[in-house]
Amino acid sequence: MSPTAPWWRSAVIYQVYIRSFADGNGDGVGDIAGIRSRLPYLKSLGVDAIWINPWYKSPMADHGYDVADFREIDPLFGTVAEAERLIEEAHEHGIRVIPDIVPNHTSDRHAWFQAALAAGPGSPERERYVFREGRGEDGSLPPNDWVSCFGGPAWTRLPDGEWYLHLFAPQQPDLNWQHPEVRREFESILRFWFSRGVDGFRIDVAHGLIKHPELPDLPARREPDDGQPWQHVDHPHWDRDEVHDVYRAWRRVADEFPGDRSFVAEAWADTPERLAAYVREDGLHTAFNFDFLMASWDPKDLRTVIDDSLAMLGSVGAPATWVLSNHDVVRHPSRYGRKVARRWVANERYEPAGPLDLELGIRRARAAALLMLALPGGAYVYQGEELGLPEVEDLPEDVLQDPVWERSGHTDRGRDGCRVPIPWAGRRAPYGFSPEGATAAPWLPQPADWASRTVEAQTGDETSVLELYRTALHLRREHPALGDGTLTWLDAPEGVLALGRDPGFVCVVNLSAEPYPLPDHTSVLLTSGPVENGLLAPDQAAWLAV
Ligand code: NOJ
Repeated sequence: MSPTAPWWRSAVIYQVYIRSFADGNGDGVGDIAGIRSRLPYLKSLGVDAIWINPWYKSPMADHGYDVADFREIDPLFGTVAEAERLIEEAHEHGIRVIPDIVPNHTSDRHAWFQAALAAGPGSPERERYVFREGRGEDGSLPPNDWVSCFGGPAWTRLPDGEWYLHLFAPQQPDLNWQHPEVRREFESILRFWFSRGVDGFRIDVAHGLIKHPELPDLPARREPDDGQPWQHVDHPHWDRDEVHDVYRAWRRVADEFPGDRSFVAEAWADTPERLAAYVREDGLHTAFNFDFLMASWDPKDLRTVIDDSLAMLGSVGAPATWVLSNHDVVRHPSRYGRKVARRWVANERYEPAGPLDLELGIRRARAAALLMLALPGGAYVYQGEELGLPEVEDLPEDVLQDPVWERSGHTDRGRDGCRVPIPWAGRRAPYGFSPEGATAAPWLPQPADWASRTVEAQTGDETSVLELYRTALHLRREHPALGDGTLTWLDAPEGVLALGRDPGFVCVVNLSAEPYPLPDHTSVLLTSGPVENGLLAPDQAAWLAV
């Protein structure tokens, strides 16, 4: 990697789901004080930056993705002054800070929405959101057939007869991005936080801001696995071309500030080409590559996703990013530990297919980590992934909090299983998540068998997932071949992925059912499991110096 390339082209960014990372004040919910106390851990892990899920003032209908005030920190998490201290201290540790920004919608308690409710139909206050009259004689039918990502219709009717749009929960009304005031306000919010030192933003639902002006009904639905190549569909509210104007303006805002500030888009696009459109030189810097996360544990599938991603992003000069888990999807050891062709993603009902073989899942997860961290570009690590945490699949129904659970009429358990507070130390809950003498239990119960998965238990144990990540992240930082750049596929039998990076690095992943002899090398840098007699076992990976 060129020493002058900006940091975001190769960064490993650790995702802090703030509610569940570390609880500093003992109320059972993670907070800024908790993050500050764990900066030494993050430094020793070897990450370049942290992305923090929304910390703004919020009634928490969607755990912070319903923002009531973008210039305030929610009291559950801390204060703006504490956020400033965190940013400073993280920088002292050599860690950059990227908050989440949520431009598609606000909370229904946001001052703008409250004003819109008070001002009534036809008022300018309502123009900042998407209000419409209903269909049918008495307007009692929603304005169109759009559905909420959390289940049910995307429209809610007010007592005054008008309907408002919410692509997520009813407490998350969609903003109208055709309105100049909305655009000005978000540019001002970006400046507010950039001037407090943040290094960038993760943009929530980056592909959803612009709606077709006529709000037509949805196009015909296609079945997800119909075997046809996925093609872009002109959709009335996802990934509309006009959204790029918004990001061109945001790029200009980022460029007003010194240092390399950068954006990462949460954009779900139909094709790599469509995704690449978000990361042009005058647009955003990077975008999550969900195709990698959704690929199955299959050599052909993975290689196709890797090649397509590198080709398309490379064609616009953007680095790829790689991600295996986040706060919306089933943790990958649990996905990999079952015989399924496809991984579960947000908004698809979670139906575990068959019994879980967690040992297999973790073996694959370890190999996947070495593959991901060897690929050109940047990578994301979701908190707890470095501990090998599985999905918590047996949370009792009465503790479930994800709005998906209610909105789906209790048919979809939602995303709480990947959001359980992470274990730091000790033999029993709260496993060091909350301080001694905490007044409340963790907001979601932690499994009774997590003692062996704590940071404390894994630290110094060479065979642990934590030490694998730590070693891989440190090697990745030091090795001149890793991070930004290109790769070459090396000859390997079906079922084995072997990729070379210059200078002198090879990553081999054995996805076949047979042991595979390590190719020629000068030394073995790291393996995801024990290698005996020079043979890489099934579901293992190795980093080699050549
Ligand atoms: C995507 C976020 O990752 C998810 O957690 C949230 O529920 C939706 N956007 C709505 O903001």
